[in-house]
Amino acid sequence: EAQGHRPPKGLDFKPVEVNTKDEVVIPEGYRQGVVIRWGDPLFPGVPEFDFDNQTAAKQEKQFGFNCDFAAILPLDPLELTGLMVTNHEYTSERLMFRGYDPNNPTEEQAKIGWAAHGLSVFMIKRSLFSGHYRPRFSRYNRRITLNTAFEMRGPAAGSDLLKTSVDPTGRKVFGTINNCAGGVTPWGTILSGEENFNQYFANAAGRNDPRLTRYGVTGTATTRKWERFDKRWDLAQEPNEVNRFGWVIELDPNDPDSTPVKHTALGRFKHETANVRIAGDGRVVAYSGDDERFEYVYKFISNGKVKRGNSKAARRHNMTLLDDGTLYVGRFKGDSPASEIDGSGKLPSDGKFDGTGEWIPLASGKKSFVPGMSAEEVYVFTRIAADKVGATKMDRPEDIQTHPRTGVVYCALTNNTERGAAGKEGGTEPNPRVNNRHGQVLELTEHRGDALALTFTWNLFLVCGFPDDPSTYFGGYDKSQVSPISSPDNLAFDRHGNLWISTDADGKLDGLNDGLYGVPLEGRERGHLKLFLTVPRGGETCGPVIGERVITVCVQHPGEVDGATADKPVSHWPDGGNSQPRPSVVAVWREGRRQLGEIG
Ligand code: FEO
Ligand code: CA
Ligand code: CA
Ligand code: CA
Repeated sequence: EAQGHRPPKGLDFKPVEVNTKDEVVIPEGYRQGVVIRWGDPLFPGVPEFDFDNQTAAKQEKQFGFNCDFAAILPLDPLELTGLMVTNHEYTSERLMFRGYDPNNPTEEQAKIGWAAHGLSVFMIKRSLFSGHYRPRFSRYNRRITLNTAFEMRGPAAGSDLLKTSVDPTGRKVFGTINNCAGGVTPWGTILSGEENFNQYFANAAGRNDPRLTRYGVTGTATTRKWERFDKRWDLAQEPNEVNRFGWVIELDPNDPDSTPVKHTALGRFKHETANVRIAGDGRVVAYSGDDERFEYVYKFISNGKVKRGNSKAARRHNMTLLDDGTLYVGRFKGDSPASEIDGSGKLPSDGKFDGTGEWIPLASGKKSFVPGMSAEEVYVFTRIAADKVGATKMDRPEDIQTHPRTGVVYCALTNNTERGAAGKEGGTEPNPRVNNRHGQVLELTEHRGDALALTFTWNLFLVCGFPDDPSTYFGGYDKSQVSPISSPDNLAFDRHGNLWISTDADGKLDGLNDGLYGVPLEGRERGHLKLFLTVPRGGETCGPVIGERVITVCVQHPGEVDGATADKPVSHWPDGGNSQPRPSVVAVWREGRRQLGEIG
């Protein structure tokens, strides 16, 4: 190792080279196996996946499309069995159906799309000597689709803004869409963010309603044309259905009969995720980012306190914590003179992109802190509320995770190619580059480390890109020793305290494949970023779960590049030959002579 130190625990692997291969590339000494693929049956009696004879009825009982977030809830101390929960962010019909006609989708194709969205819950199992998790049928197995009933909860539930002809109560919604990142709560449930819900709703054009345009709900027909088959996707017929998406959902995978909920107290925006930490007094704090260019970072503080233990009664209680509390939005201030932030990414004279910040209250229960807006309006049109209080426009906030030992909060700001463009905001200290193609990772420390604090300090840990690009920064580490990285998206920690980052560069790294990286946060190796694996052509690396002996990642949308269709696929992963690409979960483990080695 160049700087002459031993690699930290958990990161003793030789980094893989960036590449454009149509395979998952892993370090020497490691092995891999596919855990589950789009279309694999989750229930007994469901036929094996047949690409050319797919039906909505089968898709309802199979693993969905485009897995993004994943979690494993271990069921034994050796992590031989567990419950895996994944979401299915969106569908790509041109890759799902041969001869797909975007102008004339069939009703069955639309219904397959509804069933391919949502989440999957299933048991996984591996042997003592292999990290190759495989799905199992179990009483926990479950599909959540666009046909699954959800309960709307929190201060906006029952609001007139949420009522439709199908649901005059404003409290019951069918399904969840565009679920991106997520989190596991300390009480063992799953949170998942509804992200780009705007693209599913037709006939916004001409309504001239800022409550729609502020969320990018525009245009006439949608790409998928679902509005032809169910009026809920047609704003002209159901103006409020769109208000029932854009929330954080919570699912209890331990109870297959439970009704999943949507938490209105966390606000409505393009939620990337929500992650919960417990404050010293037992109240809970959730962070969530709004993943769009120039959007905001949010924080929620509950009024209620967590009940310890894993009983059903404790989970029931804890699942109400995100319904009652205060929603805040972040304002970030740099400590260097604005004249030193020139948009190039050049470090200011104090040698750091850093500063202070505060959490600005938006609403608490039925009380609004935003002039001219009721609390209900703040929750349903949160972006408009945050605009009014002068929140800080960030470079696409993606995953936000609290380090389990240090309490430092990590936020992935994936990229923002419009920063500095005509009529748009230029560089600021937390977002220091114009035409920011590669993104940055921000560290945020709440005042005195108190999760409940309303002020904080922050600094940029990584400014991403090719290391020979002078605008990049790798925690101060020797840049000749690090791997190139673009567009950090999901974050995770291993048990040694290292940070793991998965990327969604969509070709921005000179067309190189996305990957999973590990990086130490402390000591002399801080910033020594190493590429652990890469995913196939056109794919995105998502939902990393960093276990002691097994790492799993979701490979989302393999083969999704411009011009690719099911008639002309550009990826044949994972099945090889002339097969169609299938979004899948992959497990990676270290070879051991007699039993599995620890990662790194
Ligand atoms: Fe679906 Fe924000 O990535
Ligand atoms: Ca500074
Ligand atoms: Ca994401
Ligand atoms: Ca992304």
